Amino acid sequence: MTHTTTELTFAVNPSDHPLAAAERERLLADPGFGKVFTDHMALATWSSGQGWHDAQVRAFGPLSLSPAAAVLHYAQEVFEGLKAYRHDDGSIWSFRPEANAQRLQRSCRRLALPELSVDDFVGSLKALVGIDQAWVPAAGTGETSLYLRPFMFASEAFLGVRPASVVTYAVIASPAGAYFSGGLKPVTLWISSNYARAGEGGTGAAKCGGNYASSLAGQLEGNQHGCDQAVFLDSATHSYIEELGGMNLFFVTRDGKLVTPELTGTILEGVTRSSILELAKELGLEPQERRIEIEEWKDSARSGEITEIFACGTAAVVTPVGELRWDGGSVDHRGDGPAIGEVTSTIRRGLLDIQYGRAEDTHGWLTRLA
Ligand code: COI
Repeated sequence: MTHTTTELTFAVNPSDHPLAAAERERLLADPGFGKVFTDHMALATWSSGQGWHDAQVRAFGPLSLSPAAAVLHYAQEVFEGLKAYRHDDGSIWSFRPEANAQRLQRSCRRLALPELSVDDFVGSLKALVGIDQAWVPAAGTGETSLYLRPFMFASEAFLGVRPASVVTYAVIASPAGAYFSGGLKPVTLWISSNYARAGEGGTGAAKCGGNYASSLAGQLEGNQHGCDQAVFLDSATHSYIEELGGMNLFFVTRDGKLVTPELTGTILEGVTRSSILELAKELGLEPQERRIEIEEWKDSARSGEITEIFACGTAAVVTPVGELRWDGGSVDHRGDGPAIGEVTSTIRRGLLDIQYGRAEDTHGWLTRLA
């Protein structure tokens, strides 16, 4: 079995120990997020001499890595996140995979890693999902999907600080339900004023592991104050809202605007974020990308100028924000309103309907994987 792309051919070597169907179905019934993995993974190697080669799909399992591998020391690594959705007719689709492929290329340029072509990226997904398609949850089971995690890292064993000359690309897949345990309910956010996630000229716009590592101390501080997530502010003035570390933020105003922090180079260019900006126009909302001060959030939530707030990302889809807390204060913009606001619900539904094939794909956002 092979899967051919423009440049790479992923040779498919089926696992000799796939999980029994009954056990797989048991796991698919309540997968949680990021805990369960399919039978296979895709791999490819790059070297400065040969370029990309050795593309294959083989049994999911531990990778053999030298303790001197550069990624373990200097964090030369990037990743992506996207999902495979099963439609009612059994076919399997992904949402804007070329946008993820292009973002991976931008991340690679920032982290001095070799680029993978869009065709090879999509080809790797097709090769993996093709053999693991039984792991894509059945249509009509809420919002479960197969989360796909492509990633690339410096696998060369070398301790000098320079771009690695041997690099590994891999894709693993994990059946997924709601990102937050407890399902869809409003999250409470903590303003991280002691820790920034990214700075000007840094890697904030790249999807690299280091950004997520740098968000953890703020996240922990938030958890210690009873919050689910931390909101990061710009590192220069500590006054403008950036993002949550793993999600972008949106604000719905009383006069029908849908506002999100503009991309300043320190914020991740979310695929869900850009899709929502498109959908907003169709829903009669006025999308606005601009800088938003944290004080504006506090004041507008109190005055009722902001009516709804939500976070978004591939993993979290659209998640309502209930409350904002900081050292010495808090604001809850919901008042007596429903836990999930009307606009938040409509956007969430609109996005999921396209992804699961329940609404017409007028944007050409879907790509068939199997
Ligand atoms: C995603 O939404 O796909 C991400 O990579 C973010 C992470 C919090 C899971």
